Amino acid sequence: MLMKDIIEKKRDKQELTEEEIRFFIDGYTNKKIPDYQASALLMAMFLNDLTPDEIAALTAAMIDSGETIDLSSIEGLKIDKHSTGGVGDKVSLIIAPIVASLGVPVAKMSGRGLGHTGGTLDKLESIPGFDINLSKEEFVDTVNKNKIALIGQTGNLVPADKMLYALRDVTGTVNSIGLIASSIMSKKLATGADGIVLDVKTGYGAFMERYEDAEKLAETMVDIGKKLGKNVTALITDMNQPLGAEVGNANEIKEVVQILKGESENELLELSKQVAVEMLLASETYKDKDAALRAVEEVLANGQAIEKLKQFVTTQKGDASFVDDYSKLPQPEHFYELKAEQDGYVNALYAQKVGKSAMLLGAGRASKEDDIDHSAGITLKKKVGAQVQSGETLAVLFSRSEIGQEAIDELKGAYVISDVKSEVPTLIKGKLSSK
Ligand code: URA
Repeated sequence: MLMKDIIEKKRDKQELTEEEIRFFIDGYTNKKIPDYQASALLMAMFLNDLTPDEIAALTAAMIDSGETIDLSSIEGLKIDKHSTGGVGDKVSLIIAPIVASLGVPVAKMSGRGLGHTGGTLDKLESIPGFDINLSKEEFVDTVNKNKIALIGQTGNLVPADKMLYALRDVTGTVNSIGLIASSIMSKKLATGADGIVLDVKTGYGAFMERYEDAEKLAETMVDIGKKLGKNVTALITDMNQPLGAEVGNANEIKEVVQILKGESENELLELSKQVAVEMLLASETYKDKDAALRAVEEVLANGQAIEKLKQFVTTQKGDASFVDDYSKLPQPEHFYELKAEQDGYVNALYAQKVGKSAMLLGAGRASKEDDIDHSAGITLKKKVGAQVQSGETLAVLFSRSEIGQEAIDELKGAYVISDVKSEVPTLIKGKLSSK
């Protein structure tokens, strides 16, 4: 087989076979195919799109390019959850203790944040002592015992994606739905999940700004699930404004606790309940949606979910006393209140700008090597639809260091205030499932 023939075939809009796709992925991962040929094929894939069979074959070949995690010694169906990235998105940390307290195993591998979006590992590391480095045996034993453990990604998982993503980044081929879908799904499936609940974001703060693109991405990922025999459900949800009131790390952990304790009710709770219900259905623990929702509401009301969070933190060497005493979390030293400059209504609160402001405060990384300030972040006092008066506080910015003007200006630019009351965006915009 020759790489040149494969490039020409895709250039001429013909469908590649599974063998040809595997030849490309194996050859590129083993450095037998040079960057210039891989780039040419990626561009042909980008311009001519991939068929559903090509996307499934690409995903399978990428999974096989490195190690995979075997979770078969954990009892029950392992359902993972993945969000395509958002601002203030702490849903994973809310649903994990909820579904674990209902007997569904949560064996989760999470990543760090980059740019304007946050990462679950960074949020968890705001908890004093919390250890994300369990051995594989400890990880499996803990899930079997407590139904919940969360670690950083280990091993040589999907090396083809790491190499191809870097190449796509510099060859203008990132934004292809087939390439994005296979990249996301290969990483999730390599970590041993039997099924996945996807939260595909759409709006200003999301990868896919337009609803139609988010829907296409969701469809494509659900189709990969069908073809590879995995149970995949996708919710398409709003990311025009951040989720919940807190954006950062320690403050997001605090909001997770408030939700689990029933002290806070907002769209974050609504989305978390829906994702938890989909996980219960996918795990086949519950067959009926209403019964699953009742179960979720029960563990929130009777304290089982918050107790599960405490057990999870303690087992991973964290100090769970922060649940009743938030001063145990990293504390900022500097604060700035952003005030409204006119009367009116919040018409828009651009998630991407809020995320960028939080990053500038120290809550996120501009590049992979940066350190973060776990105490830094933003509390949003006013969100879309709220009425405001001139001089009222819209949001509070905080950090270990002085609050920089750039962060303030970025957040100021995130708020659009006008005389017209605007609708609060619909949170859950669509749902697709492979079943
Ligand atoms: N996220 C991924 O993991 N891969 C992509 O290609 C795009 C976003």
